[in-house]
Order: sequence, then structure tokens, then C-alpha cells
Amino acid sequence: MVDLYPQIFKRKSIRDYYLEPLEEVVLQNVLEQVNNLEPLYDDIKVDLKIVSSDDVNPRMMKKAPYYLAVFSENKEGYKTNIGFLLQQMDLFFSAHGLGSCWQGIPQPKKRVVESSDIKFIILMAFGKPKVQLHRTSNLEFNRKPLPKISDIKNEGYIGALLEAARLAPSATNSQPWFFKGNNHVIHAYSFKPNILRAIMLKKYIKIDMGIALYHIKLAAEHLGKTVRIVFDDAGREKTPNRYEYVASVKIN
Ligand SMILES: Cc1cc2nc3c(=O)[nH]c(=O)nc-3n(C[C@H](O)[C@H](O)[C@H](O)COP(=O)(O)O)c2cc1C
Repeated sequence: MVDLYPQIFKRKSIRDYYLEPLEEVVLQNVLEQVNNLEPLYDDIKVDLKIVSSDDVNPRMMKKAPYYLAVFSENKEGYKTNIGFLLQQMDLFFSAHGLGSCWQGIPQPKKRVVESSDIKFIILMAFGKPKVQLHRTSNLEFNRKPLPKISDIKNEGYIGALLEAARLAPSATNSQPWFFKGNNHVIHAYSFKPNILRAIMLKKYIKIDMGIALYHIKLAAEHLGKTVRIVFDDAGREKTPNRYEYVASVKIN
């Protein structure tokens, strides 16, 4: 399998696509990847389907030729699990010359929502990009600087893991994460938005956290480390004010 790590530094949201169908072999390749995704929590039932632009109401967004429609059982951690799973597809598309974009605004039509017995969560658009697919420099990322999202000493490999998280995409680019810890463990926390921002962001914050956790894991594995993502009481106890504990990445 290709190492998706380099895609972290190249990927960007693509919102402009050619609407022609993709070749069958390309779609088969996408399906194969969908069937090989690694969940964060393997006891949560999920379902991913490829649907076409006719199956989606794009609202104010431009149409894409295809979407992944994602469904999940509603269990503790389910949104974080979806972020973790679907970010693997975002990076996969980027590695295979296809554009993609997480899509909170467009909605699938009723027949899609009713095609699964578990809850519809979110769409990801994909297809051949009409615009440049990749970023060519870190400077093209509009992101918070590292000290704003972590108080871990930036030494050795830990800096690379935090940088991977820093560059992760998030809904409205809100970057709701904060990381504490040391060389052996990264505790991840999500921002509690104020009431006004909560209306827009609440639905997506935990998905964003799953995305960042996947980037950390990918970076760690790229550097030859093994990780376990767990709930950790010590991490929970250190939760900063106005944040919520999400999970801890233990690194060996
Ligand atoms: C959960 C989620 C939902 C999103 N929904 C939309 C959306 O509805 N429309 C859109 O144009 N972008 C959407 N985005 C893309 C973000 O705006 C984008 O990731 C962020 O601005 C960072 O830019 P980048 O992905 O190009 O690095 C979404 C991203 C996430 C993670």
C-alpha cells in the first residue's frame, strides 16, 4: 500500500471538478480502498457508499461527479471515528490524482439517506480536478501556528507528529484542537465553541478531531513508531479550560 504521509503536505480541498464519469477501473480502485479503511473504533458499524451528483442536493456548492456518502451507528466516539476513516480517503484521492472535499453543506437525497439502516453523517466530494490538485509549499496552508495548538516541547519526532495534526483540514478551517503531553503520549482536546459558533461548528468538531488524530497516527507510523489511540484518565484530568477531552495517542 502507498504511504499516504506525503499527501498531508500537498492536499487541499478541491471544489471544482470535471463532471464526466470516471473510468470503471478508477472507481473499482476507490471501492477497494473504501473496503480497506482502518477504523479508530472497530465496534462502531459504518457504511460508505459511492453516489453520483444526481443523488445529492449541492445547496450552494458546485456539483461534483461523485460523493462518498458516509453512515454510522450512533455510539460514543462515532464522529471521531468517521473523521479518522474518511480522512484516509481524502489522502488516498490526493495520492491518486483525484480531488476531494469534505462536504458538510451538500446533502444526499432522501433515497440515499433511506438506503442505509444507520445514520447518515457526511459527504465527501471527489472527481477529476479542474484546478491544481496539490499545494507546493507549507505556506499555502492557512493554519494556526504550532504554539497556538500545543504546549508540548517541539523536540525530535514529536514536532513532526504535531505538524501533521496542524495541517489537518477542519470544517470552516476552525482547527478546534489542542494537544498536551510528551514524547510518549499526545492527549487531544477539542475546543468548546461559544453558543453562536456552536450552531455552525458543533456537528463537525468531533469529525475534525478524528481527522487530526489520523494525521498524527500516519506521521508516527511513517517515522517507524507504533501508536495506540486510547481513552486515558491522566489525559482527561489535564483537560484545559473550555476544552473537552477526546483521546490520547500512545507512542512506542
Ligand atoms: C467536517 C468538514 C466539513 C466541511 N464542509 C465543507 C463544505 O460544506 N463546503 C466546503 O466548501 N468545504 C467544506 N470543508 C472543507 C474546509 O473548509 C477545509 O478543509 C478547510 O477550509 C481547510 O482548507 P483545506 O482543506 O484546503 O486545507 C469541510 C471540512 C470538514 C473537515
